[in-house]
Amino acid sequence: MSSQNIYILGIESSCDDTAASVIHNGKILSNVVAGQKIHEEFGGVVPELASRAHQQNIVPVVHQALKKANITKEQLNAVAFTRGPGLMGSLLVGTSFAKSLAYGLNIPLIDVNHMQAHILAHFIDEEGFEKPPFPFLAMTISGGHTQIVKVDSYFNMTVIGETIDDAVGEAFDKSGKILGLGYPAGPEIDKRAKLGNPKAFKFTKPKVEGLNFSFSGLKTAILYFIQREVKANPNFIEENLNDICASIQYTIIGILIDKLKLASKQTGIKHIAIGGGVSANSGIRQALKNGEQKFGWTTYIPKFEFTTDNAAMIAIVGYLKYLEGDFAEQSIMASARLKI
Ligand code: KG4
Ligand code: ZN
Repeated sequence: MSSQNIYILGIESSCDDTAASVIHNGKILSNVVAGQKIHEEFGGVVPELASRAHQQNIVPVVHQALKKANITKEQLNAVAFTRGPGLMGSLLVGTSFAKSLAYGLNIPLIDVNHMQAHILAHFIDEEGFEKPPFPFLAMTISGGHTQIVKVDSYFNMTVIGETIDDAVGEAFDKSGKILGLGYPAGPEIDKRAKLGNPKAFKFTKPKVEGLNFSFSGLKTAILYFIQREVKANPNFIEENLNDICASIQYTIIGILIDKLKLASKQTGIKHIAIGGGVSANSGIRQALKNGEQKFGWTTYIPKFEFTTDNAAMIAIVGYLKYLEGDFAEQSIMASARLKI
């Protein structure tokens, strides 16, 4: 990477986290995230409330990112922002802010694809974290996406498998809702799964051809299972919550690992990376690590704070694009369904 003195501000606002980060060359100087508690009481992200919260948060969050990095905005070389995919109202806040700031400072504007950023987060300079060599396979697992991507270079990526219905994060969150857990339920299921028996209850895995995924059938199977059991014993959930969580998580991990195994076999690639909010899951992290012994994989698991939505991953993509001189026009628009 270049030895120049490059400072990039990254801005992320695609869903319900307002985030800003400053990167100096490849190293993160600050990584600020303001979450939005407001959605918890609704059991899911409410788009209109998300955009309003972004509007309130964006100026203080950017200020704090600059302050923590100990630089002034005049020292920035470019502003990078999430163009998509995500919620349109949320994306518009980050996009408009980034455009205005870059225009005001007369510095380049850089558009970033959120899903590419989840993958390229692996190229942040972090002690103790190796960067995957090309080509590698990346599995992006979040509340909105589930994909297996063949990564040939920073910006040459091909989606070789994806979900045909729900994302894996939704499978966690919707299962949690059935069990009466709060939103998002992924972290809670993860915590409880550690205390339960993963083989206590069996859920059949969906049969989907090739490298694609499906999670909506699993959600329905869990719903019917719980309804049946609660009918027989109204305390079934409370009495078995840890075992239920462990069994659901075990099934989901099985689905993900089966597809990764197939992808690795089909492509001959054994370097495997994960990214996205669900890659914070301790069971998935462990299953991936086990793959090193079992299948000869070399695995790349991001630092916890770079798994869920963050702006450091936007800033690193901004830096990589800056080195290539790949800048956006002021006329660029947010794109809710942007593809890799
Ligand atoms: O990448 P992310 O922060 O936002 C999206 O772009 O969607 O991912 C959020 C998703 C939620 O569905 C949440 O339940 C899930 O990541 N998640 C987890 C864990 N931490 C977050 N799922 C399972 N185990 C976790 N530890
Ligand atoms: Zn994400």
